[in-house]
Amino acid sequence: MKKNTQYCCSGCGYNTQKWMGKCPSCNEWNTFYEDIIEAPKKHQNLEFSQDKPITLDQINCEEETRMTTGIAELDRVLGGGIVQGSLTLVGGDPGIGKSTLLLQVVGNTTKQKLNVLYVSAEESLLQVKMRAERLGISQKNLFVLSETGLEKVMSHCEKLKPHILVIDSIQTLFSQELESAPGTVSQVRHCAARLMYLAKKNNIATFIVGHVTKEGSIAGPRVLEHMVDTVLYFDSDPTLSFRILRSIKNRFGSTHEIGVFEMQEKGLVEINNPSSFFLSERSEEKNPGSIVVSSLEGTRPILVELQALVSQTSFAAPRRTTLGLDPQRVSLLLAVLEKSSGIILAGHDVYVNVAGGIKIQETASDLGTLLVVMSSFKNVSLPHDVLAIGEVGLSGELRAVRGVDVRVGEAKKLGFKKCVLPQKNLSKLKSIKGIELVGVSNIEKALELFF
Ligand code: TYD
Ligand code: MG
Repeated sequence: MKKNTQYCCSGCGYNTQKWMGKCPSCNEWNTFYEDIIEAPKKHQNLEFSQDKPITLDQINCEEETRMTTGIAELDRVLGGGIVQGSLTLVGGDPGIGKSTLLLQVVGNTTKQKLNVLYVSAEESLLQVKMRAERLGISQKNLFVLSETGLEKVMSHCEKLKPHILVIDSIQTLFSQELESAPGTVSQVRHCAARLMYLAKKNNIATFIVGHVTKEGSIAGPRVLEHMVDTVLYFDSDPTLSFRILRSIKNRFGSTHEIGVFEMQEKGLVEINNPSSFFLSERSEEKNPGSIVVSSLEGTRPILVELQALVSQTSFAAPRRTTLGLDPQRVSLLLAVLEKSSGIILAGHDVYVNVAGGIKIQETASDLGTLLVVMSSFKNVSLPHDVLAIGEVGLSGELRAVRGVDVRVGEAKKLGFKKCVLPQKNLSKLKSIKGIELVGVSNIEKALELFF
């Protein structure tokens, strides 16, 4: 007899009766795979229950206690440390450093006399031990378990009552209550739900590692995002030495906060001043096609170098290539630049790159993009100590951006002497000693300053 099956998207967990090429929920292609429909045999102890509704003021609110991870960058991304009983998902490509980071965290927390259980469902005890030695971790109250059975992990937790539990990774853990293979959407979801119940009931701060996967029958961490309290993703290129940990969701702090790390011999080392790290390779000499812009990541401004190369081409369709910036946005800006300055880029290839491999996701770099393209086009260097901030509108007007005070403050700290910013921002900003602030209201005015 044919089993009752459904099709599941491995990216977001969307269910459908018929196979589809494109997922209507997350718009990914070729992510559907056939899964057997099965109900968990029993749903015992999976819900939180309360006798009757109570009013908000009847709830006792204790000061939430946070444990430090011993890594300042990570504490900030978490919103000030680990909250007791919270569930955190740490996602990222394989090999990016998830296990390394969490092993470092548990090494640090055990120094504070907290009980920790590190469940490695991927690596053997020997591998964990070797990695720990490399990272210089050798604590007595760090318990390690190499186990893939969810039920066994849970019973060990009930006995050990750790303060912190790490599951590495959720895709290799499986529950006997379901028949489907480890890593399928139903297993991943079920295991995470049980772990959430365990975390809330015993007040265990739980970290779940999830590999980001594009294909195959392995469910990615996206299917868990709605369940957990905090979602952290490593979103940098594994071939570069630095790693960016980004908070996508946080019930205990602000989102879009980032932590910057560098992968070294002895694990991940935090980079406390990312701006100087990203600008360290910048050439001191006259350099057409280079400017510094500021990207606000959560509460922290990061200064990065933007580079452009405009070169003549004989092809009818010139190239527009961007790295680290949204290509649509750059096309739009090039059109605005052509219209407002009268230059014609039709016979030129335009390449724009954010140096260092970082990605800029906000519009405050618009002004810098236009200036740097113009600088390369005219082969005129921009002053070395200038920062450009501002969003550009379709009619060439400069629009105010958020967080200008912290951006200017960061630039001043790194020795920048001049900052070009939207007039609307300038009128609300107090003057800052040591840095000249120039307000401009449109692109023409900004271009007049330099060309
Ligand atoms: P890992 O934490 O195993 O990745 P994940 O758990 O996300 O799959 O990281 C593995 C990579 O990190 C591997 O390529 C080796 C490198 N690494 C170092 O460079 N230094 C170190 O001290 C450690 C432990 C790993
Ligand atoms: Mg790992």
